[in-house]
Amino acid sequence: MADYANRWSTVLVDVDSTGIAWVTLNRPDKRNAMNPTLNREMIDVLETLELDTDARVLVLTGAGESWTAGMDLKEYFREIDAQPEIVQERIRRDCSQWQWKLLRFYSKPTIAMVNGWCFGGGFSPLVACDLALADETAVFGLSEINWGIPPGNLVSKALADTIGHREALYYIMTGDTFTGAEAAAMGLINRSVPGAELREAVTELAGKLTDKNPVALRYAKHGFKRCRELTWEQNEDYLYAKIDQSNHRDPEQGRAQGLKQFLDDKTIKPGLQAYQR
Ligand code: COA
Repeated sequence: MADYANRWSTVLVDVDSTGIAWVTLNRPDKRNAMNPTLNREMIDVLETLELDTDARVLVLTGAGESWTAGMDLKEYFREIDAQPEIVQERIRRDCSQWQWKLLRFYSKPTIAMVNGWCFGGGFSPLVACDLALADETAVFGLSEINWGIPPGNLVSKALADTIGHREALYYIMTGDTFTGAEAAAMGLINRSVPGAELREAVTELAGKLTDKNPVALRYAKHGFKRCRELTWEQNEDYLYAKIDQSNHRDPEQGRAQGLKQFLDDKTIKPGLQAYQR
């Protein structure tokens, strides 16, 4: 099993024996605000873990009392303002690269484990993760309006994809905060639990995912995420192509096994459990 200790300065990575890659944003003194270094390192973290066969589910969390306080207002905004515009483009590109290109379409299942503050730009990795659980007392906020800008990056798009029109505009326009329990009620996350139970709840959810066929999981989530953006006709082509891609790429031929275990062996009921791998 790979040892990632001290490999990155702003991110901690630990892959455990159950297949969970615990990825911890690690700038607790700055409430895990995302600076250009962290954004660059996260590209490397995600590309590295993608190739690590011991890492089967990725959990994104934060060190200390914060998940992330969003983009780093000093290092990502103020200091970059003085840089040549091409540098500004690159800084933005790194951010989009890890959050929207890599994390949103990651090859493995991803879970956001929101342990505390989640502000502004933090909504990007939050929504980019496939699933999200939070401490019920975690505090969320679209704080951009409080420091004088509209939501940055693709945060508005992320909200439009997850929560309702009225709720989204309310929080975008007021900057009011809401709790993990409220985030669950509005569908921004899957579930909130007491803080002391959060890690256990995430471990249990990750266990459900590691039981499943990883190739089928990948194309199932990619298919769902893209299908919102396509027409019905395009979806028909695209989603069937994903099914064919899944069957073609799957080394364990899960489809054939699943059908056999249900129809011939009668050892499973797919409505109630996954096939035995
Ligand atoms: N960017 C840069 N630095 C940040 C930061 C951010 N987004 N969030 C926190 N920090 C820094 C603070 O400047 C402070 O640094 P210092 O110790 O060098 O002075 C340190 O982290 C601790 O922050 P502090 O405000 O004292 O912590 P807190 O626990 O009292 O409050 C927050 C936590 C998250 C409520 C508060 O830090 C905050 O409002 N942060 C900004 C959130 C935001 O608007 N993010 C949107 C960015 S798009």
